Amino acid sequence: MASTIGLDLGNVPSLDLMTELLRRMKCSSKPDKRLILVGPPGSGKGTQSPFIKDEYCLCHLATGDMLRAAVSAKTPLGIKAKEAMDKGELVSDDLVVGIIDEAIKKPSCQKGFILDGFPRTVVQAQKLDEMLEKQGTKIDKVLDFAIDDAILEERITGRWMHPASGRSYHTKFAPPKVPGIDDVTGEPLIQRKDDNAEVLKSRLEAFHRQTQPVIDYYVQKGIVNKLHADKPAKEVAAEIQKALS
Ligand code: AP5
Repeated sequence: MASTIGLDLGNVPSLDLMTELLRRMKCSSKPDKRLILVGPPGSGKGTQSPFIKDEYCLCHLATGDMLRAAVSAKTPLGIKAKEAMDKGELVSDDLVVGIIDEAIKKPSCQKGFILDGFPRTVVQAQKLDEMLEKQGTKIDKVLDFAIDDAILEERITGRWMHPASGRSYHTKFAPPKVPGIDDVTGEPLIQRKDDNAEVLKSRLEAFHRQTQPVIDYYVQKGIVNKLHADKPAKEVAAEIQKALS
């Protein structure tokens, strides 16, 4: 069996084809959604994103993950971003706005998107509004991961990541089956360079000074749902489900 676009479907296992077909059928009945997840480092944005993505067939655009990939590939973007990221400061608005502008046009974002870690300044929020206006769309909902700073150090210093997939674990709250090893691939987990108590201070400072005003920007538009991000992950997931239903 050969398709007209040059992809030989004969080589794709039947189970994979069926799974993809079922996924597409399920997705066709889902409403489009354009969501923003905002909250301080360690508040749970990356933890909750995969469930929202699967439930609503959205693409997940995490500017932090995209920037880290650029840093490790040593692209011109990564070279520009590295210094600010290592210090826990924000990279320039122009760099991240460019990444998002390109990413939201991808076919995988057709049913909508989850923006995780963007916008982080009011300028980024305004630029996003301009991009969406050109497409004739707008943000439907902003999920505000509200949490006290005091809880975040334990979450950040205990986090381990699988860099290729972005899966995150926690030594206490979400341990892998085998310490230091990804459950799915068996590959080693790493700790992010900025996941230490010292850099966390700068990241929190940046959040309160530059990103808190973004929440206020969307509160004025009446589209913010405040979550109790200090609760266990399952309870936060239930709050999200309620907010999005
Ligand atoms: P980024 O990668 O976006 O980092 P962040 O915002 O600091 O967010 P985190 O990924 O640290 O936290 P999270 O909320 O996803 O937490 P997680 O779910 O993993 O940004 C990194 C850097 O990139 C920035 O400092 C900046 O330099 C740059 N950058 C990125 N975007 C930018 C932008 N738009 N503009 C400019 N610069 C930008 O959870 C943390 C841990 O806690 C995990 O181990 C998890 O298992 C655990 N956990 C999660 N939920 C719970 C729970 N409910 N109970 C107990 N444990 C939990």
